Amino acid sequence: MSTTPQEQHKITTQFIRQKKQRHQAITMMTAYDYPTAQLVDEAGMDTILVGDSLGMVVLGYDTTLPVTMEDMLHHCRAVARGAHRALLIGDMPFLSYQVSVSEAVRNAGRFLQEAGMDAVKLEGGRERLDAVRAIVQAGIPVVGHIGLTPQSVHQLGGFRMQGNTAQDAQRLFEDAQLLQAAGCFGIVLESIPAQLAGYITEHIEIPTIGIGAGPHCDGQVLVLHDMLGIFDRFKPRFAKAYANLHGDILTALGQYKTEVESGAFPAPEHTAHMSGETWDQFLHQVGQ
Ligand code: KIV
Repeated sequence: MSTTPQEQHKITTQFIRQKKQRHQAITMMTAYDYPTAQLVDEAGMDTILVGDSLGMVVLGYDTTLPVTMEDMLHHCRAVARGAHRALLIGDMPFLSYQVSVSEAVRNAGRFLQEAGMDAVKLEGGRERLDAVRAIVQAGIPVVGHIGLTPQSVHQLGGFRMQGNTAQDAQRLFEDAQLLQAAGCFGIVLESIPAQLAGYITEHIEIPTIGIGAGPHCDGQVLVLHDMLGIFDRFKPRFAKAYANLHGDILTALGQYKTEVESGAFPAPEHTAHMSGETWDQFLHQVGQ
């Protein structure tokens, strides 16, 4: 007998940590709305990240910087309605955790209290430890994010790989250790060399989730719109497209347009009719 999504067991942060201990790969995918959350959940992904990447792939901004708390909560609520099994992680947007520790805790709490998330993610290493500690102390699980941190795109000089020098690599390794000590239950490693990601993964106890960080992480994450080939404006080198929905959707839209223009749509099977009797009654009523 098949089980409904609600009946399948909910993924917990403990389960994610156990997967690392058992050397089982952790799967994470972004989702931003009800139907994509349903699909990602049904596909059996361990975790869904409602990433602030939605600013770029859904809202059309050039960076993630304009994304607000209200944007994030709106999309998180829709995802929470669609996904019942995966661990749900809400991405804290720019300026929601950098201004003060108390604001960071308040905003992190809103993801759980108002938007059905199970955990939050925030960007940065040693400069975020106070915020991470305080959020964890409030009982909210936190995922860290180091390497290419898109909210610092202007400071980093663009969306470019990080940790290329021995000094930068050491700094990132130390950041990973510090985030673990501050209480993070996992860390996203974005756009760093594979050897460095492997080294960090081997030398910390909490799981690493890689994106553009090679195969030696404990898990992988991709942006849904990149992997489905929906978003054609900007495609990171590391994002493998498993489908070409941009092309498929364009074909479908073109076919619809042609059929409307030719009269082929709607066909009889897409059309409802009143009974002859009701129609005659209507014509009588309107005096025809
Ligand atoms: O916003 C996002 O989707 C992310 C992932 C790329 C890790 O932070």
